[in-house]
Amino acid sequence: MKIQAKATQNYQAKTDCLVVALKPLKNIAAQCAELNAITGKVVSRLQKAEQFSAKKAQIVNIAVPEGIGAKQLLLIGTGDEKSLDTEALRDLLTSLAKQLKALKVNEVSLDLQALFTKSDVETVSRHLAEAIGESDYVYVPAPKSVRGAKANKESKAILWCKDAKQASAARKAAGIGNAINNGKSLAKNLANMPGNVCTPTFLASQAKKLGRSHGLKVKVLNEKEMDALGMGSLLSVSKGSREPAKLIVMEYKGAKNPKEAPHALVGKGLTFDAGGISLKPAGKMDEMKYDMCGAASVFGAVLAAAEMKLPINVVAVIPSSENLPDGIANKPGDVVTSMSGQTIEILNTDAEGRLILCDALTYTQRFKPQTVIDIATLTGAVIVALGHQTAGVMGNDQGVIDDLIAAGETSLDHAWQLPIKETYKRQLKSEFADLANIGGPSAGSITAGSFLSYFTEDFRWAHLDIAGTAWGGAAGKRATGRAVPILTQYLIDRC
Ligand code: BES
Ligand code: MN
Ligand code: ZN
Repeated sequence: MKIQAKATQNYQAKTDCLVVALKPLKNIAAQCAELNAITGKVVSRLQKAEQFSAKKAQIVNIAVPEGIGAKQLLLIGTGDEKSLDTEALRDLLTSLAKQLKALKVNEVSLDLQALFTKSDVETVSRHLAEAIGESDYVYVPAPKSVRGAKANKESKAILWCKDAKQASAARKAAGIGNAINNGKSLAKNLANMPGNVCTPTFLASQAKKLGRSHGLKVKVLNEKEMDALGMGSLLSVSKGSREPAKLIVMEYKGAKNPKEAPHALVGKGLTFDAGGISLKPAGKMDEMKYDMCGAASVFGAVLAAAEMKLPINVVAVIPSSENLPDGIANKPGDVVTSMSGQTIEILNTDAEGRLILCDALTYTQRFKPQTVIDIATLTGAVIVALGHQTAGVMGNDQGVIDDLIAAGETSLDHAWQLPIKETYKRQLKSEFADLANIGGPSAGSITAGSFLSYFTEDFRWAHLDIAGTAWGGAAGKRATGRAVPILTQYLIDRC
């Protein structure tokens, strides 16, 4: 559903549905006198019959209303709080979008002026675009849904605005919501795909496709090229797999000065994580196809940045591999040498994310980035700490961390900081190498971040652990498209 913003308020326009947001005044109809009059006082009658009090997110649907051009009239309550926090606003818009979906509405007009006073035009438009996009999402590449799904007709939503100025603000904000949503859809599609389809080679082909459609410079390093660079840590993970590892690099150049230092996004692209020789238990192992959600978020954020033509340079670096048990797979106790020269004792082959990320982070240095953010489904421990609601963030630069947390607040894709300190770093001591790849049973997410900190000393860096937020939770066994919103917002805020 495409969103348009227009300076209009035409009750006679022929459309499938008219949505009107209303505040819970003593006399609700007072705020929509004209509408109330031409519809035979439907608003007054509903209030009198105690069918509509305009409480928060209350929706009533009046089919074939008299006096107006729309086939249905939806009234939605704003609730009586003075202002709606963005979270509550999103919930309200999500309910609305779901209702429109259920009613199979193809064209809708929305008069949300009552919400504009409780939030602001930009916030409402942006989250409306995201909510509608979210409810429109259909997983395209699944064999099952390809058979079941009908092609989505081009449908549209017209957001009524009071004047050209408001319409222009709404249009701009809806554009951001749309771009984020397109990024989320791409991330969800890639993530929802089964591991036998979405392999490192497949991800590389998708990067090339994205490069062609959006003018990105794309380079894919094969195992031989990675070997020449000394990426012994990354390659040790892919050894046990028949699918060759790839290092995918996408460059988006939107800055006026093409030489401007880029912001780097480094996404874990583990297309299936069985744990390796430190094999995971069988239950829910299928969910480890989602271990490439960091990479998927990077794809999505790059797409969103390119769609919005952000005046910024971004480099995406995606280490991609499988992690499987095999006769030549990593074994506990093996020692490998990373591209940085630091040696790593692999005490648990299931802590493989950090092994592929560390070499990708070292590689990223060649782009002389302004900031580096890595995004990874890195630890189960982050789900214990923060659940499926909030991502873990840590790093070596409080400015970058604060900027990310702020971007999470704006985009409602929240992150919460965990500390990286010497005392945690000490847990990674190894008898036989510079570092061990695990730090013991306590503070699992922090020791994982601490491990990465040994490979990021030369730039401003933050790490996002999205193991809890990228799939599951309220979304069930499906990808959520997170961290596309927080990453995209982070990039928007840097412009
Ligand atoms: N991909 C997993 C992390 C994960 C686990 C994400 C469960 C979502 C749900 C990662 O590669 C992993 O296996 N981490 C281990 C680290 C441990 C061996 C130190 C973990 O979290 O158990
Ligand atoms: Mn693992
Ligand atoms: Zn993993």
